[in-house]
Amino acid sequence: MHTVDPRIGPLTPADLHLVVERHPRYWGDRDLRALHQSVFPQEFPDTCFAARADLPRPDGTVEPDAILGYLVGFVTPDGTGYIHLVATRDDARGLAVGRRLHAAFADTAARLGAVRLKAITSVTNTGSVAFHTALGFTAVTDPDHNGSGAPMVVFRRELG
Ligand SMILES: CC(C)(COP(=O)(O)OP(=O)(O)OC[C@H]1O[C@@H](n2cnc3c(N)ncnc32)[C@H](O)[C@@H]1OP(=O)(O)O)[C@@H](O)C(=O)NCCC(=O)NCCS
Repeated sequence: MHTVDPRIGPLTPADLHLVVERHPRYWGDRDLRALHQSVFPQEFPDTCFAARADLPRPDGTVEPDAILGYLVGFVTPDGTGYIHLVATRDDARGLAVGRRLHAAFADTAARLGAVRLKAITSVTNTGSVAFHTALGFTAVTDPDHNGSGAPMVVFRRELG
């Protein structure tokens, strides 16, 4: 796949269930299934997004409405647009799917009162660090972000 023009729309609880079933297509060997709780699209439907497209298969058929990527986020009462999960399917990386999901989230979060964006990732996720840096986030390593003693990278970006 060299070009893609995805439709950005809501991520439903059923969509979340589907991506959990196909978890390795989005996350590889890392198991983040426990973070995919349906409470997010149920309670924050305006800030959970899917990028979809009808994809041609090698056999000539079409995979209709394939979820190329998704973003799960919410806006906190103090004005932080928090990105809990963002992932692009393995065959759709590098095509601006993640960038477009982020743009949709940032626009909606700002409309809902967010003045800044935040996300975290593990220190070993160099792809995520490169992605967020390309999107204008600053990355700072917090030696004990979760209280478990494990360092995490914290991304922040002000919304202008
Ligand atoms: C990180 C991830 C979401 C990026 O999604 P993507 O759709 O491939 O990213 P995009 O094509 O929108 O890229 C946006 C920018 O980030 C850069 N980028 C993305 N992934 C990168 C990587 N692995 N290395 C270097 N740069 C990268 C792109 O070059 C692009 O920069 P540009 O617009 O200045 O040219 C995707 O690799 C992924 O799903 N990874 C597994 C899940 C994960 O780790 N999610 C993040 C958890 S916090």
